Amino acid sequence: MVKKEADGAIVDLGVAFPRYFVKHDALAAARDVDPAKFRFGLGCEEMTFCGPGEDTVTLAATAAWNVLRQKTGRLERVGLCIVGTESGVDGSKSVASHVHGLLRLPPTCRVFDIQHACYGATAGIQMARAWVSRHPSQLALVIASDIARYERYSAGEPTQGAGAVALLIGSTETEDICLTFSNISGMHASDVYDFWRPTYQKTAVVRGKFSISCYLEGMVAAYEHYMEQIQHEESTPTLQLFHAPFPHMARKAHRRLWEHRGLDPETWEPAYTRWVAPSLWANRRIGNIYTGSVYLSLAALFELEGEALQDRDVALFSYGSGSCSEYFTGRFGAHTATPRILEHLNAREEVDVEQYELLSERSLALESNGSFAATSLQSELTDVERPFIFLGIRDHERVYLQNEADWQSGCFVAARLQTSESIPTVPVVEPALTSSVQHSQLDGAIS
Ligand code: HMG
Repeated sequence: MVKKEADGAIVDLGVAFPRYFVKHDALAAARDVDPAKFRFGLGCEEMTFCGPGEDTVTLAATAAWNVLRQKTGRLERVGLCIVGTESGVDGSKSVASHVHGLLRLPPTCRVFDIQHACYGATAGIQMARAWVSRHPSQLALVIASDIARYERYSAGEPTQGAGAVALLIGSTETEDICLTFSNISGMHASDVYDFWRPTYQKTAVVRGKFSISCYLEGMVAAYEHYMEQIQHEESTPTLQLFHAPFPHMARKAHRRLWEHRGLDPETWEPAYTRWVAPSLWANRRIGNIYTGSVYLSLAALFELEGEALQDRDVALFSYGSGSCSEYFTGRFGAHTATPRILEHLNAREEVDVEQYELLSERSLALESNGSFAATSLQSELTDVERPFIFLGIRDHERVYLQNEADWQSGCFVAARLQTSESIPTVPVVEPALTSSVQHSQLDGAIS
C-alpha cells in the first residue's frame, strides 16, 4: 500500500490529559437530555476538561516529557519542536517556546506553533518529516495540544475535551520506527465558516450540521485526490483512523467513504466494528482534543494491538475546520509505542456537573493579568505529581511551576518557578505513573 517510504517517521509517542472528567450520563441529566443521545448518538462516555493549573502549555509539555523520558539521550537530540494548537495562550508567543523552556530543550532547537483548527499537528508532522530527512541524526518533536471549549448548554458542550499527544519524528535510517508514511497525500482545502473561534472569545462558534457536511465533503475530495495520485491502482488500507471530534463522526466518515467507494452497503457496519471502532476507545473517554484527536486514536491503537500491528497498513484522515483535509497512509514498523493511555485515564478524578462548572470557571479565571498573586499559594496548584503547573499571570507574564525531572528514574525531585520567583518547598515524590496497562479494560481488538 505504501508506495515509497519517507525518511521521517514516527519513532514514539506520549500523551497527557487534564486531571478531571465528568461522565456524559451526568451531563445529560443536568442538561435534561436523554443520555442515549450522548452515549449512542455521539458515542461519548466521559469528558475530560482543564481545571486550575492546567492549560495548553502544561498539557503539551507533559505529553512531550512522557515521550522523551522513555529513553535517555532523546532530549539532547531534539532540533525541531512544533506545537499544533488552536488554543494557544498568547497572540504572539508560541506554546512551543514555553515547552522549550519547561523541558530545557537544546538552545539550537527551532521552535514554533502551527495553527489551523484540528489540522495543525498533521501539517507539523509533514514538515517534521521533511526536516528529519535533512537532519537524520536529530529528532523532531511534534506536539498536538488543545482544549475544546463550547458554550455551556450548547449542542457542542458534550463534544468538549482536552489533552495532548506528543509525537517523536526521526529518520528511518537511524531509528527504530513505529509508523512510516507514504509520500502521497490526498489534499482538499475550502474557505468555509463551519467552526471558528474569534480572538475575542474563549469558546468556539460552530455551525454543527454544516461542519459535519464540510468534514465529509473534504474527506471524499481528499480521498479522491489520493486515489488519482496512485492512479486508482490499489485499494486503500482497511484499517482507518479518522479525525474524531466525537467518536460517531468517525462512524459517519467510514460509512460515507464506504458508500463513495461503491462497496456492499450491507457490510459497512461490520467493517466499521472491525477496522475503525477499536481505535476509538480513548476518544470516547477524553472527548475532542482537536488537532490531537486522530493521533489519540493512533496512540489507542498502539496500546490495544501492540506488536500485532507490525507491517500492517493504515489510512489516516485529518480534518481542520476552515478548512483543510488530508488523507494519507502509513505502515506500522517493528517498534511498538507504549503511551500508557489507560494508566493516565485511571489517574484522573471524576467530578459531578456542579464541580465541572466550578473548576472550568476557576481555570478560566487564571487567564487574566494579576491572577498569579491570588492563586499561587493554593495548595492544590502545587500538587507535585504533575510535572508542570500553570500558576497564573503576573505582569502579563505566565508563571509555571516546574517539578524537576530525574530523567533516569522518572521521579520529580524538586520544584522551581520558570521565572526568578522564589521556589515553593515541595517534597520529593515517586512517579505517579508506573504500573502496566490492563488491556482487559479495553473493548474490541482488531482481528
Ligand atoms: P445536536 O444538534 O445536538 O445533535 O448536534 P443531533 O440532534 O444531530 O443528534 C446527534 C446524534 O444523536 C444524531 O445521530 C441523532 O439521531 C442522535 P445521527 O443522525 O447524526 O447519526 N440522537 C440519539 N441517539 C440515541 N438516542 C437518542 C438520541 N437523540 C439524538 N435519544 C453536533 C450534534 C455534533 C452537531 C454538535 O454536538 C456540535 O455542534 N458539535 C461541535 C461541532 C463538531 O463536532 N463538528 C464535527 C465536524 S467539524 C470537525 O470535526 C472540526 C472540529 O473538530 C474543530 C476543528 O477543526 O478545530 C469540530
